[in-house]
Amino acid sequence: MKVLLVEGYQEMSKVAAQLFAQEVRSKADLVLGLATGGTPVGMYAELIRMHQEEGLDFSQATSFNLDEYVGLSSEHPQSYRMYMQENFFGQVNIDPRKTHIPRGDVQDLGAECSRYEQSIVAAGGIDIQVLGIGNNGHIGFNEPGSAPDTRTRVVQLTMSTIEANARYFEAVDEVPTQAISMGIQTIMSAKKIVLLASGVAKAEAVRNMLEGEVTPAVPASLLRSHPDVTVVVDEQAASQLS
Ligand code: F6R
Repeated sequence: MKVLLVEGYQEMSKVAAQLFAQEVRSKADLVLGLATGGTPVGMYAELIRMHQEEGLDFSQATSFNLDEYVGLSSEHPQSYRMYMQENFFGQVNIDPRKTHIPRGDVQDLGAECSRYEQSIVAAGGIDIQVLGIGNNGHIGFNEPGSAPDTRTRVVQLTMSTIEANARYFEAVDEVPTQAISMGIQTIMSAKKIVLLASGVAKAEAVRNMLEGEVTPAVPASLLRSHPDVTVVVDEQAASQLS
């Protein structure tokens, strides 16, 4: 694992956007693995700037998001489809038909998960995956205890994750309790991974990921057996590292 220590959120976002832009420039039909949440908003903003001012071209790219809440339609303001539309897709020239996010509002969730996995394989696999990290060490919505061989599936969110995500909803009981998430193995199959961590709330998870035991109890620690992971971490998130 390569660790890049940066000052704060702004620098983290710029460094991450540079890493992504480099890949987009070197392979026009890149397959991007994307994340939602607070962490990558600044990276998306920087990629949008690069698109507008430097002509960074996403027209041939394909994307797959990590996860989506179960029970929210694509039009729900807190759905991850809506988040991606507002924070990225709507402001760059990616072809909407090539953007993929699991559908959390379908009858047969199991079939949706299998379909999603197959679409990733059919696209040739993910070239570069961006990840955030949960306060509890989750990646995607692979909560502590997620097995290394998991693929896209329906997962139960922990109370820690529900509480952390309640900031986007009117009340904690409006946060969905389940999600569809790429599994650990799906994530590990990406050719390149960039994990971003900013702020003191992530410090313990970052320490456990980098310096603790490699264990499903800290899903992000499993990334240590991937051959090409870059962790971009700011001073606050790195504050518990020895
Ligand atoms: C988002 C995702 C999650 C978040 C994590 C951190 O698609 O899969 O793993 O990356 O919960 O969230 P933030 O960035 O809001 O702290």
